[in-house]
Amino acid sequence: STNYTYIIASRPEPAVALITLNRPKALNALCSPLFVELNQALKDLDNDASVGAVVLTGSEKAFAAGADIKEMKDKEFADAYKNRFLEDWADMTKIRKPIIAAVSGYALGGGCELALMCDIILASPTAKFGQPEINLGTIPGGGGSQRLAQLIGKSRAMEMVLTGRMITATEAANWGMISRVVGEGEGEVVKEAIAMASEISSKGQIAVQAGKEVVNAAYELTLAEGLRFERRLFQGLFATNDQKEGMGAFAEKRKPKFTHT
Ligand code: CAA
Repeated sequence: STNYTYIIASRPEPAVALITLNRPKALNALCSPLFVELNQALKDLDNDASVGAVVLTGSEKAFAAGADIKEMKDKEFADAYKNRFLEDWADMTKIRKPIIAAVSGYALGGGCELALMCDIILASPTAKFGQPEINLGTIPGGGGSQRLAQLIGKSRAMEMVLTGRMITATEAANWGMISRVVGEGEGEVVKEAIAMASEISSKGQIAVQAGKEVVNAAYELTLAEGLRFERRLFQGLFATNDQKEGMGAFAEKRKPKFTHT
């Protein structure tokens, strides 16, 4: 497989891929080449039929401390605009397979936004989420203002974006930004995320990907359009072998054997 500089790609289980951000000395600051590698790795995993779900993590100290400030501090508008600075970050939202973020330590700025682009976020009690761009004389540029406003509401999104205050894992859970805080202990959150990815991988993969597609549609479409989209995709799944197997197995009181067809 490919050798990367800024990330480590591994396979803790046959059907589960783990991507570990690997710039520990810079607290996983998201420099441009890191994001190129991340997008490439995710695209490869999306095309790999043996993989059912992906876990994305950082280190114990930092999931990611944001976009690389040193890389961008001298940037000019014309260059940023012409070269579509940060536009490629959103490429990962086109991945069909579920991506679970396992967050320990700092998830700041672009690091918080990276977690928000994943499908499910699990956090260790050490996780700290924040959008501190305001302290740098700027604003979030990787989707934070939009996704936070949708997820946690206007007042809380405003507070995060305008004060730059870091919130705890518990606050993030109470605000509906993440699924839950998992147990203490080094590597606990990654273990939990791998277990969740493993469970997702055991399902029919067409249904899993359709499930991701319909939930994401809720953030893009009106309710009427979204309901129509969901119903149509639900109706369409009657054309799959996995639906016949899943419902047939239930009726026969046995475990389904999905073939992802
Ligand atoms: N970019 C570049 N380098 C970074 C970085 C970042 N976002 N965050 C940390 N680093 C580097 C530090 O410069 C330092 O490098 P050196 O050892 O070469 O000096 C190294 O990582 C360790 O960091 P600290 O010494 O600062 O560690 P600390 O434990 O004292 O503090 C911290 C940790 C509070 C997270 C602090 O590093 C910090 O505030 N980082 C910046 C957070 C931030 O502002 N993020 C938003 C970036 S802008 C953005 O993301 C825009 C967007 O919307 C896309």
